[in-house]
Amino acid sequence: MNGKNLVTLTGITTTGTPHLGNYVGAIRPAVEASRSAPAGCSFFFLADFHALVKNRDADEVAQSSLEVAAAWLAAGLDTENAVFYRQSDIPEIPELTWVLTTLTAKGLMNRSHAYKAANDANREASLADLDRGVTMGLFCYPILMAADILMFKADRVPVGKDQRQHVEMARDIAQRFNHHYGELLTVPQADIDEHRAVLLGPDGRKMSKSYGNVVPLFCPAKQLRKYVMRVRTNSQAPGEPKDPDDSLLFDLYRSVASPEETAAMRERYAAGIGWAEMKNELYEYLDALLAPGREVYDRLIANPGDVEAELKRGAGRAREISEPLMKDIRHAVGLRALKA
Ligand code: TRP
Repeated sequence: MNGKNLVTLTGITTTGTPHLGNYVGAIRPAVEASRSAPAGCSFFFLADFHALVKNRDADEVAQSSLEVAAAWLAAGLDTENAVFYRQSDIPEIPELTWVLTTLTAKGLMNRSHAYKAANDANREASLADLDRGVTMGLFCYPILMAADILMFKADRVPVGKDQRQHVEMARDIAQRFNHHYGELLTVPQADIDEHRAVLLGPDGRKMSKSYGNVVPLFCPAKQLRKYVMRVRTNSQAPGEPKDPDDSLLFDLYRSVASPEETAAMRERYAAGIGWAEMKNELYEYLDALLAPGREVYDRLIANPGDVEAELKRGAGRAREISEPLMKDIRHAVGLRALKA
């Protein structure tokens, strides 16, 4: 569709409320990419079919779709340039999933890390049935993800390290399809940024809902302040030179600030910045960064119809690609109108 421009695509599972760690690790880099990519070459979508594998609370799934979409829009995603849509608005995706399912070796899925982790947990719990609690959704998750990627002929898939195997599986599956039915699918490549910042929580552990140490990305200023004030420090007094490389406050600052600002902060550590002052600096920095988005976010949450319209528009653009490709795929595999 776009000559030789590379197509980039990534999905965001709609579970929970986006937090600061999501912003630094995924949202901000994607927003930047959405602005610099050639028009129509980048695809961002809400992976809500995937969310069903992890969450069976219907209201939570729906609410998360709204919050995740609102967060991406409020963070400045360029939806003129990038195509932004919801997976479940694209009926060709589950359709392609089935076609790919018929081509995928069960043994390939047996090797999936997520599935093996579930098996291992059951083994450790000394359960006789290692598949206890494993749904076909979990087992076949990589095939749905392959359909997401292959449906839009993505060349590059920016993901975290934990998703590398899934993209490898999509490659395998695409090659298998092409081998059997002709070269209709593009073989994708994972695009893994090894230097991607990993944001720690105020207790020094990975920022994760399961540790209860996350702060919603666009929470009220007061809540953000409280969160920053909770960040762990040591007992060094103001005026004492401090080691920035052993400071959570510094890590947090560095993950959002520019290299120049970070270098300047290093010097203030050497000069003995006090912890209270540093907390204030970090809070002010984060607040300035997030305040503009916070307003947009609150407005979008209060007007879900606006988000819905944006997603529907994106789905329209996405289907301009998925419909014709699925038509070709149907023909290629023999699902054809009967003619004399
Ligand atoms: N599985 C991905 C995750 O949990 C989300 C996802 C779904 C995705 N489909 C995708 C990512 C396609 C990239 C491409 O993070």
